[in-house]
Amino acid sequence: MELSDRILNVEASQTMAINDKANLLRAQGKNIIGFNLGEPDFDTPEFIKMKAIEGMEKGYTSYTNVSGLLQLREEICNKYKREYNLLYSPEQVIVSNGAKQILYNVLQTIINPGDEVIIIAPYWVSYPEMIKLAGGKPVVVHTKEENDLKAKVQDIKSKISKKVKAIILNSPGNPGGGVYTKNQLSEISNLVVDNNLLMISDEIYEKFQFNDNKYISIATLGEQIKARTIVVNAMSKTYAMTGWRIGFAAGPENIIRKMGIIQGHSTSNANSIAQYASWKGLANRKLDLEIKRRADEYKERCDIMINKINKIPLLNAVKPVGAFYVFLNIKETYNLKYQDYLINDSLSFAKALLEGAGVAVVPGIAFGMDGYVRLTFASSREDINVGLERIERFIKKISV
Ligand SMILES: Cc1ncc(COP(=O)(O)O)c(C=O)c1O
Repeated sequence: MELSDRILNVEASQTMAINDKANLLRAQGKNIIGFNLGEPDFDTPEFIKMKAIEGMEKGYTSYTNVSGLLQLREEICNKYKREYNLLYSPEQVIVSNGAKQILYNVLQTIINPGDEVIIIAPYWVSYPEMIKLAGGKPVVVHTKEENDLKAKVQDIKSKISKKVKAIILNSPGNPGGGVYTKNQLSEISNLVVDNNLLMISDEIYEKFQFNDNKYISIATLGEQIKARTIVVNAMSKTYAMTGWRIGFAAGPENIIRKMGIIQGHSTSNANSIAQYASWKGLANRKLDLEIKRRADEYKERCDIMINKINKIPLLNAVKPVGAFYVFLNIKETYNLKYQDYLINDSLSFAKALLEGAGVAVVPGIAFGMDGYVRLTFASSREDINVGLERIERFIKKISV
């Protein structure tokens, strides 16, 4: 059977090989420290779990509106008004199965064959493949450590052509950990407005920012950019609800409505019980304190991880300002050998580290930037300490 060009054009996640191997080693009884997962090690707050039970008991068990329960969309509007003074109506909001489906829907809505979308490397793994699935072409802007793994506005500008439809911005970034400043955001916003583009602002890590600045959503920088921005968010990371699959977006009504048409013919609505619990969770101000507590804990774990990395020869990392990942530069280990593995890229480093130290990390090539691996510090302090000690021993072993 001949498969579609669409699927043949898309790559499977390069992170799976390491994950499969890690699971195999675990099944053989080996102790593996997993720094590879992109999810909080905290559990969903008890309040939200209880509200899911209440939702079932109250009969929130049927299809909802395709775009989500009205009360949840109203609560999302309240969040944006309260936190950013951004005004949206429920018709400008859609709820989907995670931020992933939001991004998928928006790209399906705006891309024609051959259209280009600008993404910034290191980028979240699914952006390029989702763009390709929609028939578009990802155009990659590269970044440097000296710019904190954030794109220079000039570099974004040089990629803009008539074919470019949109820019995806992810601040705080996965995996780079960069947070764009107000000046940088306003320069990018001028580019978007002047070139008639759409801004897809992936703000899923908004609550995990480690400096004292207030988080800035690009949509707050004026009516013109707001009218061209799809703000993407989710319950997943903020509320440690990755398995519940609730993401949401706010933006121009015509695009949001069309995203709903795609969703209506693919998955209908997001899970009704998870929507009910999310509505109650977003409305509960006491949970803000819990989220802040978790953000403070991530900040401390980030410090622990970076301090340990700074003491290990051959490894370097830019200190993240947000999200919960360290993007570790491993280029100085190139040409060293662990048993029969010659380390010459991020994949060979990740394989050698897994075999030699029992530590699972994600190769940077999955994020469009070889020479790096991603470690998450949404892991327990104990795992961070033990995992980094193992990495240090491994580096010393292969350096002799
Ligand atoms: C930057 C970024 N965007 C989107 C997603 C998808 O989030 P969700 O689990 O809500 O689909 C992730 C998850 O890892 C992410 O890191």
